Amino acid sequence: MTLDNIINYGIIGFGRYAHRRLQPAFQKTKYSRLAGLSRRNIRSAETTAGQYDVPIFTDKVKELVSHPDIHAVIVASPPALHREHVLLAAKHKKHVLVEKPIASHAGEVQEMIDACAKAGVKLMAGFVMRFIDAIRQSREMVQSGKLGKIRYASGHFGLDVSTFPRAWLSDPIISTGGPVADLGSHLLDLLDYVLEKPVVSIQSIVKPPYSQKSIERDAAILMEWEENILGTLHFSFDVIRESGLIFHGAKGKLTLTDFNQPETMIEIVWLSEKGRKTIRIFNQNQYTRMIDHFSEAILFDKPILTPGETGLKNQMLIDRIYGR
Ligand SMILES: NC(=O)c1ccc[n+]([C@@H]2O[C@H](COP(=O)([O-])OP(=O)(O)OC[C@H]3O[C@@H](n4cnc5c(N)ncnc54)[C@H](OP(=O)(O)O)[C@@H]3O)[C@@H](O)[C@H]2O)c1
Repeated sequence: MTLDNIINYGIIGFGRYAHRRLQPAFQKTKYSRLAGLSRRNIRSAETTAGQYDVPIFTDKVKELVSHPDIHAVIVASPPALHREHVLLAAKHKKHVLVEKPIASHAGEVQEMIDACAKAGVKLMAGFVMRFIDAIRQSREMVQSGKLGKIRYASGHFGLDVSTFPRAWLSDPIISTGGPVADLGSHLLDLLDYVLEKPVVSIQSIVKPPYSQKSIERDAAILMEWEENILGTLHFSFDVIRESGLIFHGAKGKLTLTDFNQPETMIEIVWLSEKGRKTIRIFNQNQYTRMIDHFSEAILFDKPILTPGETGLKNQMLIDRIYGR
């Protein structure tokens, strides 16, 4: 695609996530360069571009996606705008990496898949947690049978939203949902990745119920996967910040806590018949890996770990939890 094997990215919606995660991740990419950005206000766009030495900046998404020097975009706008931005990028033949939660409902994700297929561009769902070393190690342990037959999985992901600077998060129309959409999307995808089993049933208690007027505060989910694997999940916007995953097998148990900080040491606690063992793994930068993975898929026509279809599967679960 490019002479120097580098994909030039434009970030649609250079907000908090782009500042904290994407821009630092681009410092270490091999096949990817941050070449453009859009914000709502041209002065803010210019200031941010100057701060990070980004050559292309605009307050119009159309200008970014139609720029000839941009090969791919990362859609990092609020979730309700993802559909519009993905379709616009596809129309201008740009490959798209779209952030989670992917859309307002599954129908929109299908539209994204169809538009990208029609335009001949690649679509990736931004489930960055699959690129975490400790997750990959956990998946390998589950898949290789080290824990015996998996019986039960549980997950928790929560934070105190009152201390969080993202204003749109509590607006149900813009956010498309509360902790289920924002945090749950990640864990639902990780369980799909680690267990690799189709979901048989899913039930939920969502309090207060998600509606077009307000988001939920907490959700408790009861799941069943094929081969009689059971699971429970809790997502919250009113607890101390923590994430955790536990896998119980017939011969062992694996516990992961706060595993998503890039470039930190993560502990996996493995309980087996031989006792308790702590495995320490250094997490590389998962954001760098995710971006370069997409660039490699574009440059060398490699398969994408989380294509649009992974996003669709995830969105369908979220829709079922919300009953929409
Ligand atoms: N995978 C992860 O680890 C991770 C982490 C955090 C966020 N995310 C996802 O990344 C996306 C962006 O999150 P963020 O925290 O970066 O959000 P953000 O800082 O609030 O804003 C992102 C962009 O959206 C624009 N924006 C903000 N509010 C808007 C509104 N009401 N209407 C239209 N545009 C608006 C901002 O414009 P200005 O630049 O002009 O302010 C900014 O460019 C979301 O989909 C989120 O779920 C993913």
